[in-house]
This record gives sequence, C-alpha cells and structure tokens, in this order.
Amino acid sequence: MEEFFQTCHNTTFYSFLSMTINKHILVGVSGGIAAYKSAELVRLLRKQGCEVRVVMTESATQFISPLTFQALSGNPVHTELLNADAETAMSHISLARWADVLLIAPATANIIAKCSHGLANDLLSTLYLAAECPVYIAPAMNQAMWHKTVTQENIAKLKAHGVTIINPEQGEQACGETGLGRMSEPATICERLLVQPIAPCLQGLRVLISAGPTREPLDPVRYITNRSSGKMGYALARAAVQAGAKVTLVSGPVNLVAPDSVELLQVETAAQMYEAVMAQAPYCELYIGAAAVADYSPITTESQKIKKQARQTTIILQKTNDILATVSQLNTPPFTVGFAAETDNLESYAQKKLHEKNLDMIAANWVGREQGGFDSEQNALQVFWKTGQKTLAMMDKTKLAEQLILLCAERFNEKNTT
Ligand code: PMT
Repeated sequence: MEEFFQTCHNTTFYSFLSMTINKHILVGVSGGIAAYKSAELVRLLRKQGCEVRVVMTESATQFISPLTFQALSGNPVHTELLNADAETAMSHISLARWADVLLIAPATANIIAKCSHGLANDLLSTLYLAAECPVYIAPAMNQAMWHKTVTQENIAKLKAHGVTIINPEQGEQACGETGLGRMSEPATICERLLVQPIAPCLQGLRVLISAGPTREPLDPVRYITNRSSGKMGYALARAAVQAGAKVTLVSGPVNLVAPDSVELLQVETAAQMYEAVMAQAPYCELYIGAAAVADYSPITTESQKIKKQARQTTIILQKTNDILATVSQLNTPPFTVGFAAETDNLESYAQKKLHEKNLDMIAANWVGREQGGFDSEQNALQVFWKTGQKTLAMMDKTKLAEQLILLCAERFNEKNTT
C-alpha cells in the first residue's frame, strides 16, 4: 500500500486513494456457510477504523451466533424487522440512514433475488430498499446456483441499479463441488470497500482490452488452448472503467463475470479474437493485449471426432495472425500495450516484442513459476517503453491492474502532449 501511495504521489494526475476511515459500515449477513468469514471481515473493518453494525437474517443466525458479531463489532446485532426498535433502539429506517455503506456478505441467492425484485419481508431486505448509501454485495453460493440464468439476471439487475458486486471466487466449496461461488476473501472485500482506486485518468477515452485464452479446435470435441484464466485482463477492464474509460473487452472463454458497464465481446478462437479486435481498434485510443492468443492453430478442423488409430499422430499447425502487431500497424493506431509471457529471458524477449511489434509499451510477466502469471490471484510486471521501464511488484491482480492503468495513462498523456 505504501508503495502504491508513493506511485500515486509521483504521477502528474490526482490523489488516487482515499481511505474511508471512520465510515459507518452496515454489514448484512445472510444464511450461508460463508457467514463465518464475515466475522473476520467485521474484525478487519474495525481494525481500519470503521464503525460497524451487523444485521443478520434468521437463517444466518443458524450458521453463526449473533453474539460473535456483537463482540466483534462492539454493537448490538440487529435481527428483527418489527421489534428492531426495542431490540437495539434503532429502527430499520434509522439504521439505513446511519450507514455510509451497506455491505451484504455473504449474499445468498435468496437475498440477491429478494433485493433485485424489491421484496422487503425481513430486516435485511427492508434495509436494502431503504438504503440511500452505496451498496456492495458479496455473493456466496453453490457454483450451479451462481451460474443459473435467473441468478445472473438478478445480479445484472442489481448492477444496473448501481449495486457493486464483489464477485465470488473459484475454488472448492463447502458442498464438496468445485467452481465459482466461494465468497471473496474478507481482506479483498475490505479493500474493495475502503479504497477508492483511481482518479479519472482515462476519462472519456475508449479502451479496448483482450483477455483470456483462445481455443483452437482440432475436431468437435478437442481443442488446443493455454492456462490463461482471464483474471489479468478482466482486472484491467475493471480498473479502466474506474478510471473513467468506455471499455470494450474481447474475451476468450473464461469463468469470470465481466465488470460493470463493460461492453463484452465473447470469442473462442484466435481468428475470432482477431476479427473482434480489428473491428474495434480503429475507434479506440488505447489497446491492451492481455489475452494469451494461440500463436498456432490446426491447419484443418475435422468435422467428425478424430478416431484413435496410429501409435503416433501429427497435427499440422499454422501461424495465427498477430493481433497486437496488426493493431500497431493501423494508419492511426491506438496507444498499443502488449503483454509478454515468458519462462526465461524476460527482459530481452519483452524488449524484442516491444520493438518488433512497434508497441508503445509492453508489460512482461513470468509464467510457469510458483507465484504469479497464469491463473493466479497475484502477478508482478516488468513494464518497458521506448525510453524507460518500471517494475510493479508481486501483488493482487486487481491492484496491479490499477497500477498498470495509471502507467498507461501517464505514457499515453506524454505521447499525446509531445
Ligand atoms: O489470464 P490470467 O490467468 O490472469 O494470466 C495473465 C496472463 C499471464 C495471460 C497475462 O498476464 C499475459 O501475459 N498475457 C499475454 C500472454 C501471451 O500470449 O503472451 P505472448 O508473449 O505469447 O504474446 C505477446 C503479446 O502478443 C501479447 O500481448 C498477446 O496478446 C499478443 N498476441 C500474441 C499472439 C497473437 N496471435 N496475437 C497477439 O496479439
């Protein structure tokens, strides 16, 4: 954090962070196994200087005792709609007015459905309706429930109503299944609540970002792909939106929910990604190629499943179009930022790509190591441009993306004012 403050101080833009210390945070806990994580969340919020009050649904009290939250928040816990006044000397309306922020964590599919439809049949759903402050929701549920169309429609509706969704994470679930649906970690939620990330350094600019892997089909059931999860590209899209840009995200197949107010173009193959990017690039001021585009694709795709026959077989591959190099060769190219994913010679390979592809900037990262790179929550970048370089240390991809966006804006401004 200190390093980030330093970065911000050194830029010519704005004061980028503001800690919302002493904020009144109303934490709504609904009934899911992730309720235990909210105890840690309340502790962290208090530690940051926030005053916290907790509202629990009836089913939440089956998972964790109100006494735990009372002890951690230092305030009585609110559970009843009708006798809230008698219980804690605060009505649901005065609680809603007390809050600077309402956070529902964990938010079950049920409370999400209630909020998105305006139902108010318990204290928490009534508070949501009565709240005039910013609302954050951290969903937690079984992966199939999360992916269900009706849940996604409810989430989309809440986003359209201005609610910030702190997306769930991938992983093993309490029910034994694996997938997207685990509540975000308390530290991540705390950070999203307390840090106003970046000033509008890309205000009004059109930004195009590619993310995720591509899939190059061999036949109807098999394809060649790579380990990209899309996390880096999606974090960049989110940071660019926060910086005021109008963002188009061209995404390969990933298990992520697109950030708010992003135009999402979903593609599968390198050829489709090429078409989608090239259709948008002439209208954008900044292009960031964070996708792991296949360098080669099979020369033919069989229409039927390839049968197992010989002991060995050969697949003939042909080079795909280099999207990044083509964008930078446009007559009026956007400010073009590439990525370089390397297992060795990071700096020299990145510099080579910077010059050969005629890029404005390249962000190089190690891949195939224990920390960072593909499908990791964290990453580190060595960023190069023609006249300089900067190291962004290992950190959460959300934070890293914010720093890279600031750097892009800085270099973009320099290029366009000299
Ligand atoms: O998605 P995550 O799991 O979060 O992981 C993030 C990441 C490791 C994928 C990301 O940080 C990253 O490094 N992305 C670029 C991966 C890559 O393909 O690197 P490369 O060195 O092979 O390619 C160099 C650049 O050329 C990249 O900007 C790439 O998008 C671009 N390229 C490559 C081939 C091609 N046909 N067209 C391209 O535009």
